[in-house]
Amino acid sequence: MASLPLCHRDDIPEGAARGFLPLPDAPRRVIVVRRGTRLDAYMDACPHYTGGTPMAWRRDAYLNGEGTHLACHAHGALFDIDTGACVSGPCLGRKLTRVALTEDQAGYLSVPAHVAGRAAREE
Ligand code: FES
Repeated sequence: MASLPLCHRDDIPEGAARGFLPLPDAPRRVIVVRRGTRLDAYMDACPHYTGGTPMAWRRDAYLNGEGTHLACHAHGALFDIDTGACVSGPCLGRKLTRVALTEDQAGYLSVPAHVAGRAAREE
């Protein structure tokens, strides 16, 4: 399966989230959250509305103030970082769409090429 490079794991500070466009014309960013050795990746597409809405109010502002949850700043939804499940806000019962993240032995991260072509939303 073709994959697209995102960055090196050290490009994401500990406890932070960053958004990456897997291709310059991709419709959505991929959010990567780093906590210790763990990395979680989701499409930047809030499930509140069909088609998904970009979640950050400014570049890479994907976490709530405490850094404990992913947040959609449109209407305040909070998402569990481990599972992508909405735990507060208008899309309770829905989830962010997880992206399969691959890390090579040198720590470089990549995602499947298909994520560059869809505004993914998990029903
Ligand atoms: S669009 Fe994300 S909470 Fe409404």
